[in-house]
Amino acid sequence: MNPKQLIKLLSLSTVILFAACAQTGSEIETRIDALLAQMTLEEKIGQMNQLSYDVSAGADLAQQIRIGRVGSLLNIVDPEALNELQRVAVEESRLGIPLVVGRDVIHGFRTIFPIPIGQAATFNPELIEQGAAIAAREARSAGVHWTFAPMLDISRDQRWGRLAEGFGEDPVLGAAMGSAMVRGYQGSSLADPGSIAACVKHFVAYGAAEGGRDYNSTNVPPHLMRNVYLVPFKAAIDAGAATLMTSFNENDGIPGTGNKALVRDMLRDEWGWDGMVVSDWASVTEMIAHGFAADPKEAAMKAANAGVDMEMVSGSYLEFLPELIKEGKISQEYIDNSVRNILRLKFRLGLFDNPYTDTSTPSPLYAPEHLEAARETATQSAVLLKNNGVLPLEGIRSLAVVGPMADAPHDQLGTWIFDGKKDRTITPLAALRDAYNGQINIIHESGVEYSRDRSTAGIASAVAAARRADVVVAFVGEESILSGEAHSLANPELQGAQKELIAQLAKTSKPLVIVVMAGRPLTVGDELAAADAMLYSFHPGTMGGPALVDLLFGAVSPSGRLPMTFAKEVGQIPIYYNHNNTGRPFQGTETMIDDIPREAGQTSLGNTSYYLDAGVESLFPFGYGLTYTTFEYSNLALSSEKIAMNGSLEVTATLTNTGKRQATEVVQLYIRDVAGSLTRPVKELKDFKRVTLAAGASTEVNFTLTTDQLAFYGLDMVRHAEPGEFRLWVGPDSAKGLETGFTLE
Ligand code: GLC
Repeated sequence: MNPKQLIKLLSLSTVILFAACAQTGSEIETRIDALLAQMTLEEKIGQMNQLSYDVSAGADLAQQIRIGRVGSLLNIVDPEALNELQRVAVEESRLGIPLVVGRDVIHGFRTIFPIPIGQAATFNPELIEQGAAIAAREARSAGVHWTFAPMLDISRDQRWGRLAEGFGEDPVLGAAMGSAMVRGYQGSSLADPGSIAACVKHFVAYGAAEGGRDYNSTNVPPHLMRNVYLVPFKAAIDAGAATLMTSFNENDGIPGTGNKALVRDMLRDEWGWDGMVVSDWASVTEMIAHGFAADPKEAAMKAANAGVDMEMVSGSYLEFLPELIKEGKISQEYIDNSVRNILRLKFRLGLFDNPYTDTSTPSPLYAPEHLEAARETATQSAVLLKNNGVLPLEGIRSLAVVGPMADAPHDQLGTWIFDGKKDRTITPLAALRDAYNGQINIIHESGVEYSRDRSTAGIASAVAAARRADVVVAFVGEESILSGEAHSLANPELQGAQKELIAQLAKTSKPLVIVVMAGRPLTVGDELAAADAMLYSFHPGTMGGPALVDLLFGAVSPSGRLPMTFAKEVGQIPIYYNHNNTGRPFQGTETMIDDIPREAGQTSLGNTSYYLDAGVESLFPFGYGLTYTTFEYSNLALSSEKIAMNGSLEVTATLTNTGKRQATEVVQLYIRDVAGSLTRPVKELKDFKRVTLAAGASTEVNFTLTTDQLAFYGLDMVRHAEPGEFRLWVGPDSAKGLETGFTLE
């Protein structure tokens, strides 16, 4: 037996020896130590190198894997092809270290769920966890071990295309949704055949891009960083997220991929996290374009010193880490720690014991229960913004179905769809025909072919269809390409001839229902005024059609609530509910532009913070949403008017369904810290509950508010609650509710 075979036998026996044992943390660390001790520097650095299969596939890839220069692949979803490359890694490389395979499974693998901003609108973490677990089962069956999700970037800017992939403007909602997705993806053990590793991204504050223009600079100061942008990340890390991805943006001059203070000092040392950090696509060498590195060698040095364990596709680690170590610019300890983090992920995923994808088991793709879960999520994610009584549709004999999104199987799926198949999408038109053919005369005229279509040639036919029908439902919105990465809009409004289509339909005086399928909150004020009802569906996925039809015909009442504020005017952006008060807050009595007297005196308008031509009011506030009944809040009560530090408060209120239909209310609890060592937001969501009530029923809703929920990073940059007066609301959204107060002592 030659030395190479002996080492192979030893390492294999080491792995087999431990393979029989359960994978406890300490045993994994022992296995890591044993393996690390055998690795050459080149093999260690090879583990830190990730290649994209769709870019690097070819005979050389197998050779690269064979000689230990590749630790991970992304964008390979053919289990047979993957098993062959995995065999090369496990059986033909010197130490047999398996590959870990990543993929953007952002809102479903084959069965596509609503885009994450839509999932946030459910205010239902349990449902989101279920959807992530389904996505994990489908993805793992195709050989994917690791998803680059959930995206936890807080966004307050409706122009930013990637808000579609996140959970909106609120840290508490983002934390609840992100943690739920991590639990869903990862299950009870990463080694389970239905689990995949989560990857919380993009670290950090990527959503604060100046001007809402993707990849643009961000300037989030330390207090705001900790009190808003890091909150969902800390929650998801505490929920056990296995990996994290650094961001493209630079914040205050430091790119996320080179930010040692945030990655190595805070994430590792302060938070004590032992997961694996991967860069974003080429974000290591993009630090050259940023002007943060002079060349790929310096970029590699800064990323590795910052704590980025694995480099996605840009190859500078492979090329320059050896000499950087020789030059003493990177410590061997840093390299070893990065390799530990990578090996730990692979051990936790069970890849040393089961490296291959079992292709003999029945495929879970598009399983009926998966489709049903996607339909339920799409149903709960839709938000009813207006209804003058036309919904739910009842007793109609003919229905005009118009608009570019009525039958758009590709665009309905939304952004970041690599593996969902449009031929499995059930569109609203298909669902209507399936459910009501023969009962209702369905007249379909798109009027505008696709969302950017500027041609008005088809509008006359759509208007004619409307004239022949009892009710018109216009499905408008955005093609999926208009949101997501690199797809920001200076004018987040209905594109093409859609506005003209709505205006012409309104002239028919027929009852007009508008259903918007989009990747972001659009400025739809004009269309809202023209409509008798508006239902907002953030790209609802594979089962969006049946879900929307159930809602339109009242099989279920809408229960979605807005995860982001809707602006009236693009000029109001950024606009969000949890803003600070300023020293001259809007009073509500200010004179608007049309009412200003001629030659008005310089200080005659009151000198408060508002737009003369747009005020400060949003089109719709965070948390807003209607349903097919009405709810009344009463009897708001606190267990005490005072809380001792480290104590808690019981909050109760009565909710009554004062309408005629069963429906679900999202009861929301907000507070305001009236005065602090820093200025505090005028409102902060602290908890929420979905409560379903039959017509006429009442129930008591209870929350427990702890002082930890009141804690924030104060002037001293220490996280703690501060004594003083607080206001508290329980209500249906961030603009309304029963109000009371308490004192923290
Ligand atoms: C992209 C995205 C990131 C994604 C990665 C891999 O550029 O920024 O979210 O996970 O590259 O596709």
